[in-house]
Amino acid sequence: MTASHVSGLPASLHPPILRHLALYIVVAKILNVTPLDSKQSLQQPSLTISGNLGKDSMLVQLLLLSSILLTCVSNGNAGVTSSFIRNEWPSVDIPLDNEVFAVPKGYNAPQQVHITQGDYDGRAVIISWVTADEPGSNQVRVGLSEGKYDFVAEGTVHNYTFYNYKSGYIHQCLVGDLQYDTKYYYAIGDGDSSRKFWFKTPPEIDPDASYKFGIIGDLGQTFNSLSTLKHCMQTSAQTILFVGDLSYADRYDNHDVGVRWDSWGRFVEPSAAYQPWIWSAGNHEIEYFPHMGEVIPFRNYLHRYPTPYPASKSSSPLWYAVRRASAHIIVLSSYSPFVKYTPQWRWLEEELKRVDREKTPWLIVLMHAPIYNSNNAHFMEGESMRVVFESWFCQYKVDVIFAGHVHAYERSYRISNIRPDSSNPVPDKSAPVYITVGDGGNQEGLANRFRDPQPDYSAFREASYGHSTLEIKNRTHAIYHWNRNDEGKRVPTDSFVLHNQYWGNNRRRRKLKKNHLHSVVATLQVGENLDLLSMGM
Ligand SMILES: [Fe+2]
Repeated sequence: MTASHVSGLPASLHPPILRHLALYIVVAKILNVTPLDSKQSLQQPSLTISGNLGKDSMLVQLLLLSSILLTCVSNGNAGVTSSFIRNEWPSVDIPLDNEVFAVPKGYNAPQQVHITQGDYDGRAVIISWVTADEPGSNQVRVGLSEGKYDFVAEGTVHNYTFYNYKSGYIHQCLVGDLQYDTKYYYAIGDGDSSRKFWFKTPPEIDPDASYKFGIIGDLGQTFNSLSTLKHCMQTSAQTILFVGDLSYADRYDNHDVGVRWDSWGRFVEPSAAYQPWIWSAGNHEIEYFPHMGEVIPFRNYLHRYPTPYPASKSSSPLWYAVRRASAHIIVLSSYSPFVKYTPQWRWLEEELKRVDREKTPWLIVLMHAPIYNSNNAHFMEGESMRVVFESWFCQYKVDVIFAGHVHAYERSYRISNIRPDSSNPVPDKSAPVYITVGDGGNQEGLANRFRDPQPDYSAFREASYGHSTLEIKNRTHAIYHWNRNDEGKRVPTDSFVLHNQYWGNNRRRRKLKKNHLHSVVATLQVGENLDLLSMGM
């Protein structure tokens, strides 16, 4: 079942219908009109009308009934709880001797290769890799054609210990001054053990630059995780937005924590060596283990997954921002101080002022703990961040907020809970769409108990594994899909056209040339139904 079937779900429509029917009866009584008997058809209104009200009252009744039906269809506030259930494979980690964790052949061969954006605007990448036997070369050879490298960048190397685990040699190299929209080839490692990869830089910052993001959360390293990773790679997503909880290595003890960080690095390399992953940290990255003498939070994560935080004037790699094509992406840390006057709060206050929707119309926020979640798992855990940041999200008209943490999928309507006269979420055209995509497939399994009844703010929810894509077409439109893992296949299940919060404004939209908009609509080709009603607010 897709979210596009919203208007076809009588059960979830019952509350609004009843409310409007009650209103209809009250208004009819005020007008001294006998409400339509449910057994009577609209073709027999004269049976219910008396006196000289005649045609006028019949018209009133018809208008009221039409209002009921139209409201129920157009407000879209009827959420869907999908009944789809398929657990796929058991929620256990893939054995270490599986080929997905294979160490590359050759002495000291680079492994766990991954890239991320290295600057604010997308003209640099940070390339990271690990060598197991000795430090080896820190150099990255880069060129415009395969096997022909025009320049060399010099990186750094370090290692660390975690309890009784000793890491390999972790290399990190910033490659800058790249041209936009260009495919680069790169080689790392020495002699016969060197390995070759490539990446594509994004288009220059431009409001109409099209770009496709994949969104993955709570991935882990099970066969379900592998399914999610493969499916996301099939979508041709150009960059992955990762919403925290990477390896789940913290569920192991002692030496094996580090071992499972290493295996995860090899697990995601087929994607992460070629497409930048924009990292955010989850609770499984905290790894506060006093019983092992490890009390510095995020140690494994911070040693292994660098972020370009200085480029956005952040004081921590855990919260930062990048601009890519037509998107401004803000990464927040759910597990770092964020209340008023803390470094993260102060940074976000300034970063939001730097957002220029004329240049990067799409404002996307990543975090780990969802702000709106109607699953029993982790219910209300994002509430404290909501209280601190929600008014800013509405003030700056954030387009969409992606989170993980809850091992299921859920999408909200545009709602907020910032009015002083109400303590409940209400429809708010300035609010973001909240999407929880913590369904990567880790060993903890699915969160399959949703709260009942489904809250009004919840548009669609399903306890399955999967991932999302957000395909930005231009400054006004983007196409979103949530893709379920379904018996080894990728099945687009929840989809909608996302209207940009800044350029969707009527006054600005009128400024755009008509033929420009028409060309956009003509290019919107999707393979399944789209939930146009809910996002047209
Ligand atoms: Fe989590």
